[in-house]
Amino acid sequence: MIVFGGESSEHEVSIVSARNIYQAINKQKYQISLAFIDRSGQWWSIDNLDDYAAPSIRLSISPGVPIFSTDDGHEIKPDVLFPVLHGRNGEDGSVQGLAQLMHLPIVGCDMTSSVLTMDKIAAKEILDQHGFDVLPFISHRSGTDLPDYRSVSYKLGSTLFVKPSRAGSSVGVSMVKNETEYQIAADEAHKHDEFIIIEQAANKPRELEVAVLGTPPNHRASVVGEIKPEGAFYSYDSKYSADSTSAVIVPANISTDLSENIRQQALDAYSVLKCRGMARVDFLYDENGLYINEINTIPGFTNISMYPKLWDHSGLTYDSLIDRLVELAE
Ligand SMILES: Nc1ncnc2c1ncn2[C@@H]1O[C@H](COP(=O)(O)OP(=O)(O)O)[C@@H](O)[C@H]1O
Ligand SMILES: [Mg+2]
Repeated sequence: MIVFGGESSEHEVSIVSARNIYQAINKQKYQISLAFIDRSGQWWSIDNLDDYAAPSIRLSISPGVPIFSTDDGHEIKPDVLFPVLHGRNGEDGSVQGLAQLMHLPIVGCDMTSSVLTMDKIAAKEILDQHGFDVLPFISHRSGTDLPDYRSVSYKLGSTLFVKPSRAGSSVGVSMVKNETEYQIAADEAHKHDEFIIIEQAANKPRELEVAVLGTPPNHRASVVGEIKPEGAFYSYDSKYSADSTSAVIVPANISTDLSENIRQQALDAYSVLKCRGMARVDFLYDENGLYINEINTIPGFTNISMYPKLWDHSGLTYDSLIDRLVELAE
C-alpha cells in the first residue's frame, strides 16, 4: 500500500514523488493499493493515482491487526506499507508508529529513527555528541523569550539560518543578516513548528548528498551528489519551481578523499541515528569544514530528486531500488 499526500506543507511534493514511484513499481510483481491522505488528515482509498483530486471512498484503520476497511465494505490487508509522505505526520515517526501498532512492515526508517532525524534539533544534538561536525546552533520554543539578533550573532556570526525544527523542502527556512530579518524569519519558522533552530551559516557552501540503503551493519552508501541551487540557498522555489535553474550533479566533482570521508560519515550518522531501510544524508562544505546538515528518511522521489539518481549512478535502477526497499521492509 502506497500512502501519499499528507497533512504537511510538503503535500504537493509527496504527490509528485508518489506518481513517480507508482509509475516505476513492478505491477506484475506487486498488487498495489493506494491510500491518499488529504490535507485535513482524512485517509481515502483510490484506484488510480490521479483520483486523489476527488476521492470518494474513505479508509479506516484498525490498530493491532493489519486491516484497512473502506466505507464501501472492502477490507485491504497490505503486506507492506510504503509511505511516500514528507514532513509532519508522515516522515516524523507517526505513520511509522501506526505501522508498528498494526504489526505491518513499512518501507524505510522505523518510528524511533524517524522521530530523531525529522527533528533537526534532536538530530544535531546527537550527532554533535558523537563527534560529528555540525554547524553551531541554538533552539527556540514559541512562547518563550527569543534572544535578540545581537546576542545570537555575537555567538554564531552575522549571517544566520532560521528554520522550523521539524519541516522539510525548505518550507519556513530563511537566511538573515539583521535584526528585522531575524524577527520575521523566527515568526515565519514558527508558523511551521513550535520549535525552531537558529544556526550559523556556512559560507557559500557546496551542498553534497549521499544516499544510504539497507539496515546496519549491512547498509551501503551511494556515490556523492552535488546540488547547485539557484539563488542564495536551496529554497522551496529553487527546488521545485518549473523554471528553476538549480542543478543536480551526479557524481559530484570532488576529490576521492573528500568523497570517501563523506560516504563514511553518512554511514556512521545513519547508524548513530538508528536508521534502517533508507535515508539521504546531506552535507554543507565550505572553506572552514565539512558539516552534516540533515538526514532525510523519506527523501524526494520526484524527477529531479537526488536519492534515486544517486542509486541509478551507483548501478541500481529506479525499479530495482523500489524492489530493494520493499524487500528490506519485508
Ligand atoms: N547553516 C546553513 N548554512 C548555509 N546554508 C544553509 C544552512 N542551513 C540551511 N541552508 C540552506 O537551506 C536549505 C534548506 O535547509 P535544510 O536544513 O536542508 O532544511 P530542509 O529540511 O527544509 O531541506 C539547504 O539546502 C541550504 O541551501
Ligand atoms: Mg534539506
